[in-house]
Amino acid sequence: MGVSYKDLGLVNTREMFAKAMEGKYAIPAYNFNNLEQLQAIISACVESKSPVILQVSKGARDYANATMLRYMAMGAVEYAKELGCNVPIALHLDHGDTFETCKSCVDFGFSSVMIDGSHHSFEENIAVTKQVVEYAHAHDVTVEGELGILAGIEDEVVAEVSSYTDPDQVVEFVERTCVDSLAISIGTSHGAFKFKAGEPVPPLRFDILEECEKRIPGFPIVLHGASSVLQDYVTMINQYGGDLKGALGVPEEQLRKAAASSVCKINIDSDGRLVFTAKIREHLANNPDHFDPRQYLKPARADLVKMYKAKNENVLGSAGKA
Ligand code: G3H
Ligand code: 13P
Ligand code: ZN
Repeated sequence: MGVSYKDLGLVNTREMFAKAMEGKYAIPAYNFNNLEQLQAIISACVESKSPVILQVSKGARDYANATMLRYMAMGAVEYAKELGCNVPIALHLDHGDTFETCKSCVDFGFSSVMIDGSHHSFEENIAVTKQVVEYAHAHDVTVEGELGILAGIEDEVVAEVSSYTDPDQVVEFVERTCVDSLAISIGTSHGAFKFKAGEPVPPLRFDILEECEKRIPGFPIVLHGASSVLQDYVTMINQYGGDLKGALGVPEEQLRKAAASSVCKINIDSDGRLVFTAKIREHLANNPDHFDPRQYLKPARADLVKMYKAKNENVLGSAGKA
């Protein structure tokens, strides 16, 4: 027997995106796979009164366990209430690879799923996306599709080179699949090494975004690979024994510009990973006798809260919109 996300207190992304489109801001989609990350996301979004999409990759779901995740999401809703603001919370599958993965997430209480058919042919992408939409919509779960390939590595989808979204394909894709949102490729990529170190960072292809907007006006667009790769934390990691030299991300002013457009959802995972790891490295280097996980996870969690709040307030424009 499946569980409906509605019984967990979650919402799908439909109303969130309609409001974000109208208000010219973007909903944060933060990836998590453990308790401390989830606590930090909820605290930050409650403190900044922001709606939020809790994002789980297939690998994160395997890591955390599907049943645990369902109750963690339910706990997140109750935690937000306890903290004093019932912010809208969606639980979203990131980069779903097959119909079966998406179906399983719908059955386990996700309120939104992504089917990433971007590595298939156009026709195959449409076919699998349509199949997911039919099942998901029957459960009032929203669906994100993708056109164009981002470089970088996700669990099931590995691309060495990116290919920008072809604006001429978006109308047919959206009409034939009936997806609720569309991820496009305009020069971002996954991970902490998005651009070549020592060279000027190439601007995102806002011309492609504008062409897509013209063809599907008012339709929610999603930006993956949107971490800024916060340099203070990269430096901290390198200072305390790590080796992430040359890590670079998307400049914040470009994300601000995207958030004010039809981009309604901005995906951030790597920045959370960097903050968490940097603070743990710093703490353990300065306190070599500590071995209680709470001692090093607490400062890591505290900096995550600060970072997510700053994103909501200064980059995405989602603060105060809950
Ligand atoms: O886009 C991919 C996300 O950063 C998730 O990464 O598959 O390693 O959990 P993951
Ligand atoms: P980053 O690696 O830039 O955080 O991108 C995350 C993402 O797109 C998750 O789907
Ligand atoms: Zn992604």
